[in-house]
Amino acid sequence: MNHFPHLFSPITLGKVTVKNRLFMPPLSTNLADKGYVTDALVEHYSNRAKGGVGLIITEVTTVEPTYTYLPGDMSIYDDSYIPGWKKLVDAVHQYDAKILSQLFHPAYMAFPLPGTPQLIAPSNVGPYYAKSAPRAVTVEELHEIVKQFGEAAYRFLQAGGDGVEIQAAHAHGLLGGFLTPLYNKRTDEYGGDLNGRLRLTLEVIEEIRKKCGNDFLIDVRISGDEYSDGGLTLRDMIYVSKQLEAAGVNFIHVSV
Ligand SMILES: Cc1cc2nc3c(=O)[nH]c(=O)nc-3n(C[C@H](O)[C@H](O)[C@H](O)COP(=O)(O)O)c2cc1C
Repeated sequence: MNHFPHLFSPITLGKVTVKNRLFMPPLSTNLADKGYVTDALVEHYSNRAKGGVGLIITEVTTVEPTYTYLPGDMSIYDDSYIPGWKKLVDAVHQYDAKILSQLFHPAYMAFPLPGTPQLIAPSNVGPYYAKSAPRAVTVEELHEIVKQFGEAAYRFLQAGGDGVEIQAAHAHGLLGGFLTPLYNKRTDEYGGDLNGRLRLTLEVIEEIRKKCGNDFLIDVRISGDEYSDGGLTLRDMIYVSKQLEAAGVNFIHVSV
């Protein structure tokens, strides 16, 4: 306890005060039913809140209907999801814990369920689980996806949620894929140097702020270093962190 004198003291992030420094990172359970919150999910997260966690970040939550990350993952891409999320948020809040939803677009890492169209990616490189390679997403599609992130965040706000985490870490999914030079080989405004590769994430932040206001928490999960030849370095991520701070995020969740 002496080694961690602040662990059980409150911390204020933006306008939200969290009762302690115990944050639960996103961990997929696959307990959702067609993306909807189930009783098992309510029990899972509210038990963590009951146990004393100050802030919970949910597992990946998809923001649009076309691509599934893994069957059983959570979704928030239309208003029919709001009542379930409200039940989950209320269950966590009764223990005075805060909750963020981790918003995610799986892109090239989507599960190839029957009927899934060709997967999208920053460029024509990178890993994928489907039988055929993904295609580069168009700029028009990106504009639509930015709006979908904003609408998803607004639904979570309507459900009483405290904020959202934007998943841009691990070279994973659309935003993580755009950020890394390993998978983003685009030559348009969404590619090239680090500013270009970060553009999509910054647009998502701006859209969420616009829709959800200043009291809603926004954090971004990033990799601290990709430890890969040609991948993002610690120096890159210090630069990215400063850009995220300037864009008004309330905190940064650094992963490896
Ligand atoms: C079963 C499982 C599910 C996970 N689901 C997610 C997820 O939904 N979103 C995410 O960003 N990370 C996810 N992760 C990564 C974890 O949040 C975490 O970074 C990882 O377990 C490493 O833990 P550490 O940071 O304590 O070393 C998952 C990890 C595991 C083992």
